[in-house]
Amino acid sequence: MKTTNELIQMKQDDEKITMVTAYDYPSAKQSAQAGLDTILVGDSLGMTVLGYDSTVQVTMADMEHHARAVRRGAPDTYVVVDLPFGSYHVNDDEGLKNVLSLYQSSGANAIKLEGIGCLEIIRRSVLAGVPIVAHLGLTPQSVGVTGFKMQAGSIEEAERLIEDAKRVEEAGACMVVLEAIPADLAGKVTESLTIPTIGIGAGAETDGQVIVYHDILQYGSDRLPKFVKPYGDFNSIGVSGLEEYVQEVKSSQFPDESTTYKKRIFDK
Ligand code: KIV
Repeated sequence: MKTTNELIQMKQDDEKITMVTAYDYPSAKQSAQAGLDTILVGDSLGMTVLGYDSTVQVTMADMEHHARAVRRGAPDTYVVVDLPFGSYHVNDDEGLKNVLSLYQSSGANAIKLEGIGCLEIIRRSVLAGVPIVAHLGLTPQSVGVTGFKMQAGSIEEAERLIEDAKRVEEAGACMVVLEAIPADLAGKVTESLTIPTIGIGAGAETDGQVIVYHDILQYGSDRLPKFVKPYGDFNSIGVSGLEEYVQEVKSSQFPDESTTYKKRIFDK
């Protein structure tokens, strides 16, 4: 398993960091087998596996449940787990308590928090020994306010984002996810920081890339964001397999001798 320091060193060595989301035992196992450097148990699980229309309904219990399954599927991969909506916004003490609780119960290697409103929680978590990943640009927990669209499109917003990235680094974050921002801005943020940037919809100039498992493998997702390149098609493989199963059961082709125990109890 990579350590936080090794991931930071990868930036210095100009080696790209790979990250994919996983939410359960099989997707974690596949990600580990495929050699991903890191796995993110994203609160996007609210949409990809629970069928909500945003991440807002996702709870601490959901994150803990899915993160533990991922840990079991990928015991030797660096796992980052999202702190869900509402669990760090009321006050810093409650936020810190939830960071510690999720870190301890899930077996995560790092906890991810969105936005710039949690600098004190980042500081105190790192002091307590928890590696923290920050998330700037489009922060899906705030889509009620921002909408699902590219962020930091003006020079003022871009300059603010560069400053925000420096502030999360100063607070102690070990990586920053940059979502849905112009590629040249992501490049500027990347060169302004000593910690790695991990992009999603942020172009090629970041230190690494993260993408949603269900999007790149087309598993249940039917509308892909502009920045997703599909690398597989579980939707068609799954549906055609199920159609064949239905047809073979209806026509009594399944089960056949090869899928039936040979032992008989009663004489014919
Ligand atoms: O929850 C998630 O999947 C994320 C990625 C979009 C980075 O935060």
